Amino acid sequence: MKTQVAIIGAGPAGLLLGHLLSRAGIDNVILERRTADHVLGRIRSGVIEQGATDLLRAAGLARRMDAEGAVHDGFSMVFAGERRRVDLKALTGGKSVTVYGQTELTRDLMEARAAGGGETVYEALDVELHAVDGDEPWVTFTRDGDGQRLDCDYVAGCDGFHGISRTCIPQDTAREYERDYPGGWLGILSDAPPVTREATYVNHERGFALCGMRSATRSRYYIQVSQEERVADWPDDRFWEEFSLRLPEETRARLVTGPSVEKSIAPLRSFVSEPMQYGRLFLAGDAAHIVPPTASKGLNLAIGDAATLSGLLASVYRDGRADLVPRYSEACLKRVWSVEWFSWWMTNLLHKFSGNAFERRMQRAGFDYFTGSEAGLRTIAEHYVGLPFASLDE
Ligand code: APR
Repeated sequence: MKTQVAIIGAGPAGLLLGHLLSRAGIDNVILERRTADHVLGRIRSGVIEQGATDLLRAAGLARRMDAEGAVHDGFSMVFAGERRRVDLKALTGGKSVTVYGQTELTRDLMEARAAGGGETVYEALDVELHAVDGDEPWVTFTRDGDGQRLDCDYVAGCDGFHGISRTCIPQDTAREYERDYPGGWLGILSDAPPVTREATYVNHERGFALCGMRSATRSRYYIQVSQEERVADWPDDRFWEEFSLRLPEETRARLVTGPSVEKSIAPLRSFVSEPMQYGRLFLAGDAAHIVPPTASKGLNLAIGDAATLSGLLASVYRDGRADLVPRYSEACLKRVWSVEWFSWWMTNLLHKFSGNAFERRMQRAGFDYFTGSEAGLRTIAEHYVGLPFASLDE
């Protein structure tokens, strides 16, 4: 087999990159280790930044998102029962975010790829990259027990945090930066109307809580739990009891509970691997960086990388701008680190990571300053609606 760009991984980063490349007339093949159903079974984030929704719209991917997603013009943060709203629209000159599940977006991307005839090999096992530091890389994999070879011009490693692409960058070239936070998020999806109209992030003495939503009838709620907790220890009743204890009184009074449709624990981790390219291999999405879920940036970072990489490859194939290739990593990382900063900041502001009274005073001071000043609120809003995508222009 031969293609222009071999894409490893059919998560949002790989599928969106494939779509954008196909629209630019660049041939690509996606190799995905799992089945399509498995990929669609993963419940993840659900808040899409303004720039990302604009991109999806321009790429013809927004029909269902515009019909079924909900535009949110603000969100709230609560500290010790005091609620402060961040008016995204007013603070950013009209920008907002859209609540639309990553699973739904993935389905839209898969359907668009199928309609456009793009090739995706599901259950592609034993994927290995070869000669990415030369001019003619290739990828080997196993399909239905048969060894296969895919020749290409470039490889896009979109295979997530546990993928193999990142490991192909030699150890003396790569550098990893990591922060593990003590604790995780226990999240449930429930077919109950959301308790708040907009997302509400709560700093409570018992730990963090988040009131989120997927639709007018489906809520997505989280509580911070310690690292040792297991889902099995949290029957629905226990979750509802702990969750309601962390809510401000007026919110608790309105809470409607219901059986959980899904329940899982997500770790809290910040991670960046530099550089995001090596020879003809580019990394995009979780393959290169992880953010804690606070602020919902993981999916948006993946979309941003795919946008930048597809723009770069379009310039290479259309305008012969191979000189832009070395700039990918640096351009992306600048944006990635800004987003990492905001996710880290918001995580530290809202969680209880120790019983240290000084830390709580620091959180209080940060909360009061940022939510009590127009400049502070604007900083939060600008990050929350999303920074501009990385540009490779001089
Ligand atoms: N070979 C082929 N495919 C692989 C391999 C491999 N060796 N390893 C992993 N994959 C596949 C996974 O099965 C998965 O479908 O790569 C895909 C990576 O998808 P994601 O993990 O969803 O990563 P990404 O596309 O970067 O999307 C980032 O996911 O974790 C969330 O918060 C994150 O929302 C963000 C989004």
